[in-house]
Amino acid sequence: MRIAVVGTGYVGLVSGACFANVGHLVTCIDLDESRITDLSNGKVPFFEPGLDAMVAENLGSGRLSFAPDMAQSVANADVVLIAVGTPTRRGDGQAELTYVHAAAKAIAVHIRNFTVVITKSTVPVGTGDEVEQMMRRANPAADFVVVSNPEFLRQGNAIKDFAYPDRIIVGIDDAQAKPVIEQLYAPISEDGNRLVFTGRRSAELTKYAANAFLAMKVSFINEIADLCEKTGADVRDVSLGLGLDPRIGPKFLAPGPGFGGSCFPKDTLALAQTGREFGSPMRLVEATIAINEQRKHAMAQRIIDTCGGDVHGKKIAVLGLTFKPNTDDLRDASSIAIIEALQGVGASIAAYDPQGTRPAQAILHDVEFCADPYAAANNAECLVLVTEWDIFRSLDFNRIHASMTSPRVVDLRNIFDPSVLQSLGFRYRGLGLPE
Ligand code: UGA
Repeated sequence: MRIAVVGTGYVGLVSGACFANVGHLVTCIDLDESRITDLSNGKVPFFEPGLDAMVAENLGSGRLSFAPDMAQSVANADVVLIAVGTPTRRGDGQAELTYVHAAAKAIAVHIRNFTVVITKSTVPVGTGDEVEQMMRRANPAADFVVVSNPEFLRQGNAIKDFAYPDRIIVGIDDAQAKPVIEQLYAPISEDGNRLVFTGRRSAELTKYAANAFLAMKVSFINEIADLCEKTGADVRDVSLGLGLDPRIGPKFLAPGPGFGGSCFPKDTLALAQTGREFGSPMRLVEATIAINEQRKHAMAQRIIDTCGGDVHGKKIAVLGLTFKPNTDDLRDASSIAIIEALQGVGASIAAYDPQGTRPAQAILHDVEFCADPYAAANNAECLVLVTEWDIFRSLDFNRIHASMTSPRVVDLRNIFDPSVLQSLGFRYRGLGLPE
């Protein structure tokens, strides 16, 4: 099939490369010409394991191409994916749809034959109807249907998630789209058993419900971790016991410094706003947002407390800046709020992240960015693990102990073994662990 993908951000580029990789002919379009030039030369603008190689291979085979202008590729396409950003709108927290609307109108003008237009961007319920109306007004003669096909890829795992999806949710209000979608996903949905067809509005809402539910699970376990500390229970045991119930499941029950990234914070805010707009309050989602905001400040306070109540003039080493491992993304990362809070009370910060240093330099100020974890820990009063990159699991703590001014570790992901660190002489604080 011929596919045009509008937007070469995370969702657009991963989907485009993956669809090319399973045999479709894909053109990814972006108005940013320098980005298109880079991509045409195989230069991927963000870090995602395996994506560089996949882009290079499919550029080489001719199945994947990049263009700054959509006219030709949309005119030739069987399927057009809208994969532009939907950032948080200022003021009310709803998703900003400017880019989606602009893309939809531009696509409508170039459609020549029957085309299935798929909204991959995360958009509030009812957006498909708006997009369809806008497109009809922009080009009354165009023959198309608008489908909602939300994306459930996780950063850092996107290529595997694409190849082995739990489900592919497709919201269609017009049966004409169904065989086209089946053909599109035939290479990955085997006998079609991953495809779940719903109404368009249901698909749109499913995306928000899924992200909000996972975010809620994270905020829930974070509060349970706090309660464990107060009661002498161990959150690791509680998580295990909870997760063994298949109705709950073991995933997303790891306490941390609060969820971040480009999806959970944005999508919970948008869903809460949708609830308000429709007079159907999303109270659990509202609480999830509030708990998460508070969490980051509580983590900064925990570090200050571990340092004896005052970090003024003290060096704090921060390991991991990205919102989770295997990405270079710092959007809404808890590290930002934690570092800024510590700087606000006079701490100096030395940080190390395997992939996030460059983006961090654009966001964080007055931070010493180090070449490795040991340089960050050197002369530090406290070492704080914020993001659980694998390389931090095998640190040489003897070396770290020898180089720190005060051997203290605050582990905001519970990746270290408390007894090992304590036996080396560290003051260790994890999350939700008995003292
Ligand atoms: C999330 C969803 O998991 C994807 O299914 C979805 O497609 C994506 O958003 C999206 O809407 O595009 P992602 O943002 O890549 O994916 O990250 P997650 O792996 O879900 O993690 C989100 C945050 O929750 C991270 O900050 C992570 O550290 C935190 N988290 C996750 C925890 O603190 N504890 C956990 O047990 C799990």
